[in-house]
Amino acid sequence: MKPTSPLAIGILGSGKGTNAQAIIDAIAAGRLNARVVCVLSDVPDAFILQRARQQGIPAEFVSAAPFKTKLDGEAEQRTLAVLRRYGAEVIVLAGFMRIIKRGMLQAFPHRILNIHPALLPAFPGVDSWKQALDYGVKVAGCTVHFVDEGTDTGPILLQKTVPVLDSDTPATLHARIQEQEHIAFPEALQLLAEGRVQVEGRIARIS
Ligand code: GAR
Repeated sequence: MKPTSPLAIGILGSGKGTNAQAIIDAIAAGRLNARVVCVLSDVPDAFILQRARQQGIPAEFVSAAPFKTKLDGEAEQRTLAVLRRYGAEVIVLAGFMRIIKRGMLQAFPHRILNIHPALLPAFPGVDSWKQALDYGVKVAGCTVHFVDEGTDTGPILLQKTVPVLDSDTPATLHARIQEQEHIAFPEALQLLAEGRVQVEGRIARIS
């Protein structure tokens, strides 16, 4: 896609929203040619909603019930309706802890990006920084990837690495990875905004 105006981003998140904040800050600093049209959460009191509201960005809780781990059925349709109402062109999963299903993937083909706190394909799923530590890897990191029907399996757009230190706890390693997430996500989105990303099969090419 080659957008001519700022990329209209809809953010979905379930937690504290530091990645959403990094995206908002990158836009404000002129490093990312985009606007955040809405922030949606499946968790009513998630801090990500409060953050967005504090900055004048429309923020809504959209229930994903009755599902516990996925966004499907009527919950998926509800979320899509809100994203369309705000004119989102790209969906950003910033700590959204649910599996995206076919309806949303078909509505936004190659336009849903996720950030994962590991160097995929290693350590998909939850608590990836803990998985990395328990495995004993010496390098960890984060991955920005397009979302497909699998769990953390879609085409990889960008990765950043961090060292794993002998003194690391899960919390210190996650914090080091998150510093890189906050750089990687805006960078990846700017590539999209510049129309420089092409997805062929499972390969995302940057021109
Ligand atoms: C981030 O570390 C992100 O990589 C992770 O949740 C955190 C959200 O933090 N996502 C996943 O684990 C998805 N499988 P944030 O709410 O501060 O952006």
